[in-house]
Amino acid sequence: MKFDTPATNNPIDQLNVVGKPVDRIDGPQKTTGTAPYAYERHDVVPGQAYGYILGSAIAKGSIRSFDLGDAKAAPGVITIVTWQNAGKLAKSKSNTARLLAGPEIQHYHQAIALVVAETFEQARAAARLIRVDYVREKGQFDLAAQMQSAPLVGGTNTGSAAPAIDQIGDFQGAFAAAPFRIDQRYTTPDESHAMMEPHASIAAWQGDSLTLWTSNQMIAWAVRDLSETLLIPREKIRVISPYIGGGFGAKLWIQSDALLAALGARAAGRPVKVALTRPQLMNNTTHRPATIQRIRIGATRDGKINAIAHESWSGNLPGGRPETAVDQTRLLYAGANRLTAMRLAVLDLAEGNSMRAPGEASGLMALEIAMDEMAEKLGMDPVQFRIANDTQVDPQKPGRPFSQRHLIECLRAGAVRFGWSKRNPLPGKTREGQWLVGMGMAAAFRNNLLTKSAARVRLDNRGGVTVETDMTDIGTGSYTIIAQTAAEMMGVPLNRVVVRLGDSAFPVSAGSGGQWGANNSTAGVYAACVKLREAAAQKLGFDVADAVFANGQVRSGSRSAPLAQAAGEGGLVAEDGIEYGDLDKKYQQSTFGAHFVEVGVDAATSEIRVRRMLAVCAAGRILNPKSARSQVIGAMTMGVGAALMEELAVDKRFGFFVNHDLAGYEVPVHADIPHQDVVFLGEADPISSPMKAKGVGELGICGVAAAIANAIYNATGVRVRDYPITLDKLLAQPKAV
Ligand code: MOS
Repeated sequence: MKFDTPATNNPIDQLNVVGKPVDRIDGPQKTTGTAPYAYERHDVVPGQAYGYILGSAIAKGSIRSFDLGDAKAAPGVITIVTWQNAGKLAKSKSNTARLLAGPEIQHYHQAIALVVAETFEQARAAARLIRVDYVREKGQFDLAAQMQSAPLVGGTNTGSAAPAIDQIGDFQGAFAAAPFRIDQRYTTPDESHAMMEPHASIAAWQGDSLTLWTSNQMIAWAVRDLSETLLIPREKIRVISPYIGGGFGAKLWIQSDALLAALGARAAGRPVKVALTRPQLMNNTTHRPATIQRIRIGATRDGKINAIAHESWSGNLPGGRPETAVDQTRLLYAGANRLTAMRLAVLDLAEGNSMRAPGEASGLMALEIAMDEMAEKLGMDPVQFRIANDTQVDPQKPGRPFSQRHLIECLRAGAVRFGWSKRNPLPGKTREGQWLVGMGMAAAFRNNLLTKSAARVRLDNRGGVTVETDMTDIGTGSYTIIAQTAAEMMGVPLNRVVVRLGDSAFPVSAGSGGQWGANNSTAGVYAACVKLREAAAQKLGFDVADAVFANGQVRSGSRSAPLAQAAGEGGLVAEDGIEYGDLDKKYQQSTFGAHFVEVGVDAATSEIRVRRMLAVCAAGRILNPKSARSQVIGAMTMGVGAALMEELAVDKRFGFFVNHDLAGYEVPVHADIPHQDVVFLGEADPISSPMKAKGVGELGICGVAAAIANAIYNATGVRVRDYPITLDKLLAQPKAV
């Protein structure tokens, strides 16, 4: 189905099931431990052996030789796979570094061998006995040191994009002439996704056909990339990933566990399972790359931005892409004279790539502090300053409107609800005992991507509906919103819908990434249901144009019949997908929000406690307010981590992330998180899809860290522009009190 805009009234708009805060239909399985994850498929794959990956001990160089003798002789060892015996492999276009290294080494902990043994412990013990003779080469590991030599590079990254350099009007002239100016530098560190479930795969071969049970956000990409890497046809590969313990972008592309399970199973002649341990995956897989950002804003006396420039530096392996941290600055605020630029240094660290809201999450950490600084300089309220610089058209291309843009409404609603008027704009003036108290806010922005998505729906002769699509549920609630969509469209209760996801045998969906999953995958199910309704009406002799599907019945005029009757003995099947043509060229599609935060900072120790948080989100129709709220509070929590804790510490001598476990890489725990309040404006967007929904899972993190930084400034008068905002950075400057 090609989507025609604007979406007209359709069965989804009844909102009998869609839009209701129903519980997750997979909740009981998740909470009773009966939802099988990739590493746990003992039930369907008998005779598994265990693979353990050995990671490179150097960051750059090559392998001169292996001594595998002791490892091969160790108890339980079945086989060892290295580049020398793996057979011919290629690198897929999606993976910047090869998933099995050798002889060349591209980064620390890059996989160099897989030991396959009868037990996990035997495989791990034998891996320790492998001796590797390396040739070490000098690498580059320090972004700041490489800034000067980094060339301009454009790029796209799951939902965000920016050219290498873009100039509109005369930034230099307008900035020089502006009566109010700021010019500041901000830094964000390397971060790890730290999802609950580490990467894991089980591979089994039948002849030349591979089945892979894995944990992956994008099933069709996994098939494609395995095909490109193993040099076998896509038709010979089946990927199954029905339950996923979080992704955040870590599982958009296959990682070494998937490839090495496949290679290990081929070498061992039996199924092999491979999981990355937490200490392995942080240097072996991808991460959110560090940025250095320079922002210049020039404003008129009445608080209008007339010049805005955002430049970002990031690093990656050769062939990798930049962190698109300037993306939101192209779209968020008005201003006639604009400049954005991205520079990319070569760094020999593990690959930098998508992590929850790639681009915007990092970019807003800088931009929304800069906006706070500019508002202060102008003597304007930060909320008012943002409202004054709203734009209803794409400021890069003034003829191009946003499909819908309710940033101002979010800012206003948030200010009222949070009690913003009680904030003292002077920093360091609000004290409760030992605590310096401050409020901060930031705008939230994240793009809404349209991408085609297909599904198959089947009606059985008892009136049940089964949906099949290769869509994934990474903890987001896909099962539930897809069931709600099918129930609404077919007029059956929610408990008559069965949803089957995460299998490459099913029609190709949008998958889970870039917050595009909810809107596109349900729109694909909608399209398939439209077809099924047509087929059912025809079977029953009704005109689909006036047929009403409700309560398991189909009604047309004065006649009605049970829906189940349309199924006949063999059932009735329909398959279709949603496509958008060039809709995203006609409209800019984005989601908007506002974050408000209150912090307390201990006057003596500088301990920071987040005390209250509010997010107001404008993200189209909310398909399920309960699961959407869970997405946003999770994202807000991740924003607290980005603001105060998360940092992969780079060893700049040897080139690796030192704190590669969850003891050293800190993320928020329950005790760090205060009351979180989430409000959805919830207006349907008739340009986004027949569902009129948009993404929300990434919007929730965008801006949070800056709101916290701004609240800390309001509390203390100390402006920290270098994340994470740890106590030492606060103690290094005098407080305003
Ligand atoms: Mo997302 S970072 O595209 O999973």
